Amino acid sequence: MTTPAVAATTIPEPTKPIMNSTVIPVDIENDGPLFPSSLISPEIISILPTDYTIRPLRRSDYKRGYLDVLRVLTTVGEISEEAWDQRYDWIASRNDEYYMLVVCDGQDNIVGTGSLIVERKFIHSLGMVGHIEDIAVEKNQQGKKLGLRIIQALDFVAEKVGCYKSILDCSEANEGFYVKCGFKRAGLEMAHYY
Ligand code: ACO
Repeated sequence: MTTPAVAATTIPEPTKPIMNSTVIPVDIENDGPLFPSSLISPEIISILPTDYTIRPLRRSDYKRGYLDVLRVLTTVGEISEEAWDQRYDWIASRNDEYYMLVVCDGQDNIVGTGSLIVERKFIHSLGMVGHIEDIAVEKNQQGKKLGLRIIQALDFVAEKVGCYKSILDCSEANEGFYVKCGFKRAGLEMAHYY
């Protein structure tokens, strides 16, 4: 089995001051990155548009518009902060499996997101497969290569933690985007809805 190169621990990070006088109250003690920031590719950080950042999700991202960004992808529903916190805690307790990251603009608003879920298998000598999920870039931020950077950043995490491949499902309309990100068509998705 390929051993994860980086231990998954939750390291608290100081919060960035919010510009534009929108002060978001944050419980600093309880607001560390979801997974170690060392898993974010320094190269990708360096080629983002000026003042943009890419980083692991944090609990306080509820207040930075995380769910609104996901609304460009699909229905999200009305999620209270309490419900968010519960789900966030569940995910954070599995932070060697769930790697969710966000792109923020210069005003610390979330403008893009993507997730990598790492599946541990018996086959392929206890291989690990990355599942890329929920890629979304806010409408007025599309076309700035942010989607590409999110995929590249997730690829970096997948490789670092020991995945031998990453896979995803997408619509025909998005195939060209994922081809530009280095993916190729492989197989056929089937679904059973409940
Ligand atoms: N079809 C073909 N090419 C595309 C498409 C597309 N739908 N979208 C972007 N591209 C191309 C761009 O033109 C660019 O090409 P270039 O390098 O030659 O200039 C390249 O792909 C990179 O594009 P980005 O600027 O990084 O794309 P963007 O930031 O706009 O993000 C995304 C693309 C994520 C698909 C965005 O449009 C979006 O959020 N759409 C709505 C939500 C969605 O459909 N998400 C994907 C769901 S599938 C999943 O989550 C696994």
